[in-house]
Amino acid sequence: MKKIECYIQPYELDKLSEKLWGVKGVKGLSATEVKGFGVQRGFKATETAKKGEVKLLPKLKIEMVVKEKDVKEITDKLVEVLRTGRLGDGKIFVTPVDDAVRTRTGERGQAAIE
Ligand SMILES: Nc1ncnc2c1ncn2[C@@H]1O[C@H](COP(=O)(O)OP(=O)(O)OP(=O)(O)O)[C@@H](O)[C@H]1O
Ligand SMILES: [Mg+2]
Repeated sequence: MKKIECYIQPYELDKLSEKLWGVKGVKGLSATEVKGFGVQRGFKATETAKKGEVKLLPKLKIEMVVKEKDVKEITDKLVEVLRTGRLGDGKIFVTPVDDAVRTRTGERGQAAIE
């Protein structure tokens, strides 16, 4: 199993949820309000970043634990839906997940996310 962690513009959430609904490997997701910055340190292309200064911009972190075989399809879909080509389109990270448990049944591993 893998965790896909995707930082998005907050206004993209509704559109993204709608599109992810159709992807079979997505069985659940969490969205968390975060603040962050990327390589532009929170400044727009038209602004000049002052030395040593950063702006923390509101973003959403989307987390999905999925089967490894579904990672490519899901990350491709994220890019397809979220890419505008402008700075700040977001970032996607993929990390390993050791185990999962469905609390209601005690099912473990992949069975817990099916
Ligand atoms: N290396 C990182 N580690 C953790 N979070 C990050 C990292 N890079 C970006 N983020 C998160 O993703 C958000 C969006 O980043 P952003 O899209 O600006 O990345 P970028 O690398 O600057 O790409 P771009 O050049 O397209 O703007 C940030 O506000 C931050 O919350
Ligand atoms: Mg950026």
